[in-house]
Amino acid sequence: MTDKRPLWSSKYSFIITAIGSAVGLGNIWRFPYIMGQYGGAIFLAVYILIISTICFIPLINELYIGKYTKKECVGAYEAINPKFKYLGALNPITGILIAGFYFIVGGWIINYIFKSFSGNPVENLGEYFSEFVKNPFYTCVLTEIFLFICIFFSARGVKKGIETANKVLMPILGVILIFLVIISLNLPNAHEGLEYMFKPDFSKLNSKMILAALGQAFFTLSIGMGALLTYGSYIKEDKTLVKSAYTIILSDTAFAVLAGIMIFPAVFSFNMVPNSGAGLVFVTLPQIFSQLPYGNFISGIFFILLLCAAITSGISIVEVPCAAFVERFNISRVKSCVLLFLCITFFAIPAALSFGMLNDIKLLDKNIFDFLDFLTSNILLPMNAIFLCLISGWFLKLNGNDIIKNKFFALCFCIGLKYIVPIILILLMFMGLN
Ligand code: PHE
Repeated sequence: MTDKRPLWSSKYSFIITAIGSAVGLGNIWRFPYIMGQYGGAIFLAVYILIISTICFIPLINELYIGKYTKKECVGAYEAINPKFKYLGALNPITGILIAGFYFIVGGWIINYIFKSFSGNPVENLGEYFSEFVKNPFYTCVLTEIFLFICIFFSARGVKKGIETANKVLMPILGVILIFLVIISLNLPNAHEGLEYMFKPDFSKLNSKMILAALGQAFFTLSIGMGALLTYGSYIKEDKTLVKSAYTIILSDTAFAVLAGIMIFPAVFSFNMVPNSGAGLVFVTLPQIFSQLPYGNFISGIFFILLLCAAITSGISIVEVPCAAFVERFNISRVKSCVLLFLCITFFAIPAALSFGMLNDIKLLDKNIFDFLDFLTSNILLPMNAIFLCLISGWFLKLNGNDIIKNKFFALCFCIGLKYIVPIILILLMFMGLN
């Protein structure tokens, strides 16, 4: 089985697809609105602290386990110790649950692209958004279209599908983002948005916010559901993973901060509130675009940016269960994709309806969409990461030097895997959930 596995065609392909997985709705849609809900700059400070310290070890660990075992998640855990096969299965399950809410936002984006280019102005964008997300027909059909696009690339395979999509979409994403940042920074009172982002108010620091920052960090780096493990398993030779890990973290943070710089100055410039939640990008920004020259065009371009980001991450979300189905059930990629399409639809449709028809169904006081987001980002992703750190720290008998050449850092890495990261993650989860 192993020698039939696909491989990336170059190191660049690996890096660009891993960055494509990391940079997604998490950076452009989720990060700004969560930052808005938790008080701006202080959230950013906590987030950066977490991302540059605690996240580094599980990230590199995932890449390494993938590269070392050359297997999808379930097989990789099994290769370390057959007892852990079922823990490995939590990764593709988490992927399917994430897809259950992520792909709905993908569907919303497709609608907004058409809406922008159609040129029909909408009077009240807030009302339009809250009515639109309640519409059962459009939200379900568009979710399925978005799901189909991601599954299509996965079905075409690692080189022809995943690599090609990322190589085309990521540069487009970068150029559009910079263009929109320039527009936003030139709006009147842009400095207020920058102050909101970079001047922390320490009184807003609390444990719920720290858990949210942790969940966001795992979500945005794609840690904890085996996406990087699966991508790591397609790495060809012995490439240094440390550099790749830094590149992924730095690029992802840069994209998130730029997305904030694109959004907050515009929000403050038009006297709007930054804590409006999931609708921030779908209500506030279109309102601003509608007042700019060539507003429809700019709005369309913005949602294309969002779509590119969502597709490259969406592909990595489906690739984890897709690879697991292929290798566990010994079926073709296409068959695995059909099966996956059905599994994701099973969760995505109720979540898509959870703003309208199914609004009354509440789990932990949240609708299905918000519950899936909370369950995966704040619980399953950190939990899977804890398991993988413990498993590779204690059972793989890792020699840190396999990963990091410098003896001191290699030792720190092993101690981090065995003790520090699991303890900190458990503490943070415990504090945030209480
Ligand atoms: N990192 C992606 C984003 O920021 C989402 C994602 C999570 C992708 C987990 C894969 C695995 O949008």
